[in-house]
Amino acid sequence: MFPCVLNGPVRCWMKHSTSNVRAFTVRPRLVLGIETSCDETGAAVLDETGIILGESLHSQKQTHLDMGGIIPPVAQRLHKENIYRVVQEALDRSGIEPNELTAVATTVKPGLSLSLGIGLDFSLKFVRLHEKPFIPIHHMEAHALTVRMLHPVDFPFLVLLVSGGHTLLALAKGIDEFLLLGQTLDVAAGDSLDKIARRLSLRNHPECSTLSGGQAIELLGKEGDRRAFHFKTPMGQIYDCNFSFAGLQNQVTMAIKKKEKEEGVETGQLLSCVKDIAAASQHTIASHIAKRTHRAILFCKSKGLLPQHNPTLVVSGGVACNEYIRQTLKIVTDATGLHLLCPPSKLCTDNGVMIAWNGIERLKQGKGIMSHTEEVKYEPKAPLGLDITSEVNDAAIKVPPLKLRINS
Ligand code: KG4
Ligand code: ZN
Repeated sequence: MFPCVLNGPVRCWMKHSTSNVRAFTVRPRLVLGIETSCDETGAAVLDETGIILGESLHSQKQTHLDMGGIIPPVAQRLHKENIYRVVQEALDRSGIEPNELTAVATTVKPGLSLSLGIGLDFSLKFVRLHEKPFIPIHHMEAHALTVRMLHPVDFPFLVLLVSGGHTLLALAKGIDEFLLLGQTLDVAAGDSLDKIARRLSLRNHPECSTLSGGQAIELLGKEGDRRAFHFKTPMGQIYDCNFSFAGLQNQVTMAIKKKEKEEGVETGQLLSCVKDIAAASQHTIASHIAKRTHRAILFCKSKGLLPQHNPTLVVSGGVACNEYIRQTLKIVTDATGLHLLCPPSKLCTDNGVMIAWNGIERLKQGKGIMSHTEEVKYEPKAPLGLDITSEVNDAAIKVPPLKLRINS
């Protein structure tokens, strides 16, 4: 239905600015990306080279911090209140009119139903009004591919996605082709950092009141002694690439309760040892992530799944902002000869740019572009790629010990 738009950059005759000669120019394709899968309302306009022409982001973080967690109807209301303004701002900043867009890309899976619904409803109305093609986006694929906007990373590459909703390891073989090597069996790394921070009442800490749980733990952990508490690294005897954080969260809660009793501190007040608990929790989470990632690298190498030249580990998602975790992973990639790449922090957390970029990648390959949108639905649960976790488990690779000494 949109052949000239979809097969390549739009070629058009334009009037030359200084003379009256008509010149043949190539107009790059432009995608508007819209993200509302969780608690950020994001929009961005990108051209096909990855240049961000305009973007806007409304974060609900402070509201959810104040309420002690994400409450889906509240997230939905905030998306509803902000989506029009956020999209308009991204368009205004880009100087692009809706009729100049090549397509609109929007997160439709996975995520909170109530949040996804707002982005999808808005986008469908927008594409119908402006008669534009629609590109439905998988949120985790978008996190995985963001790096390609900034670095020429060829497929296949290994990707670790660590966020508030997900923790997984996958081999990216193509823009829509992934092998799932491992994932969390209970809560995600970011969720457990958020809950530990909440249990430590870090919102009442003068330096942490506006920070997400993960950011607060990272900040306080810098001045803490991680050896003051010993938490057991999860799943030490299970030789696969899955993750688990619920048990660790429980260990930390028990240690907090014990200290509260010793110090006579009520829930809501700050313990004297918050920095040490933050440092020890962060270290244990980092070690767990590093060990599973190390095994994933060895598995991929043993199966010849990574290229000989420049094999790469990409790390993204909100928790990938954490410098301590990045440094821990660097020890693993240095030991195994991989190249480590993380997008800058603002592109690791949820945003509209990564969705627009995924739209560009799809547009370039002509994949998943819809001119009829009647059937489009959002999907709160959506696995990433082909699940080969049992194959990883069968390989039962033992990971050689690595000294994870980080200078904080
Ligand atoms: O990717 P994201 O923005 O949203 C989801 O898709 O979940 O990730 C948000 C998560 C939160 O759990 C937050 O605590 C965590 O990322 N996070 C961090 C840091 N910054 C954000 N975790 C550890 N260290 C950080 N610096
Ligand atoms: Zn995310």
